[in-house]
Amino acid sequence: MKEIETMETVGVRKAGLPVRQAGSELAPRGVQEEGIVVESLFAYFGKHRVIKNVSLRIPKRQVTALIGPSGCGKTTFLRTINRMHELTKDARVEGKILVDGVDIYGSGINPVQVRRRIGMVFQKPNPFPSMSILENVVAGLRLNGRYPRKELLEIVQRTLVQAALWDEVKDKLHQSGTSLSGGQQQRLCIARTLAVEPDVILMDEPASALDPLSTAKIEELIFDLKKRYTIVIVTHNMQQAARVSDRTAFFYIGELIEYGSTKEMFTHPSKRQTEDYITGRFG
Ligand SMILES: Nc1ncnc2c1ncn2[C@@H]1O[C@H](COP(=O)(O)OP(=O)(O)OP(=O)(O)O)[C@@H](O)[C@H]1O
Ligand SMILES: [Mg+2]
Repeated sequence: MKEIETMETVGVRKAGLPVRQAGSELAPRGVQEEGIVVESLFAYFGKHRVIKNVSLRIPKRQVTALIGPSGCGKTTFLRTINRMHELTKDARVEGKILVDGVDIYGSGINPVQVRRRIGMVFQKPNPFPSMSILENVVAGLRLNGRYPRKELLEIVQRTLVQAALWDEVKDKLHQSGTSLSGGQQQRLCIARTLAVEPDVILMDEPASALDPLSTAKIEELIFDLKKRYTIVIVTHNMQQAARVSDRTAFFYIGELIEYGSTKEMFTHPSKRQTEDYITGRFG
């Protein structure tokens, strides 16, 4: 296990500690209001206002789907939840987002720490091309601290099992991450996200580049992961939103038009625009 030994030289953390580093949580456990609370959120690219006064509460350990026609602001909204939006030149955010009671835009909050606690899976699988499967899984941990070899191996196995990829890769952990199929690469990226034990996982159309079988695997995985994680997923696929999510938010030109239980929204949408969209009349 050459790579692991190399990583071990990075240093050794106290054995026996939980994977989550002490003090790395956005808020102390047990005392905070849980889930994500968005209050009067606006997001801009320069002068262009693309998210307009959005407020909603995203419950913990549930799956919330964001739907709406192309360009309505789903990706932008998602990227405000882990402070990625502001990485784009001239992009800014107004309003408040509380994650487990902590105002992530508050003073004294380190955006890098926010991005670690709130993981993101992108539309196109993006394993690091120069890294092996194993190195890809632990890539985020290297930034977070120091891990003994045994613990790293445990994390690699645990997260690949969680990401339903272990059986397919256990005999080739040292092969390049990019040698995998698209669906496998996406599960590898999910394992990489899980390895740092985030509080929230954001997924931007995670299955849109995948075949039906890989899509089904990702959906099963999402269903499984919500036992432990709060998940927000953007999807263009109405069946997928209906299958995987507990709650759905419908966006239209930067505004939140309707938000509620997925079952309710798909059977009795309260707004005409929502109904038109989910029945395929536009978008
Ligand atoms: N980097 C950028 N610079 C300037 N404007 C942008 C940028 N990214 C997105 N936009 C604009 O912001 C608005 C919202 O885009 P966003 O990507 O959030 O939509 P979306 O709902 O995710 O669309 P899609 O379903 O096509 O992915 C659009 O009008 C888009 O043109
Ligand atoms: Mg998008």
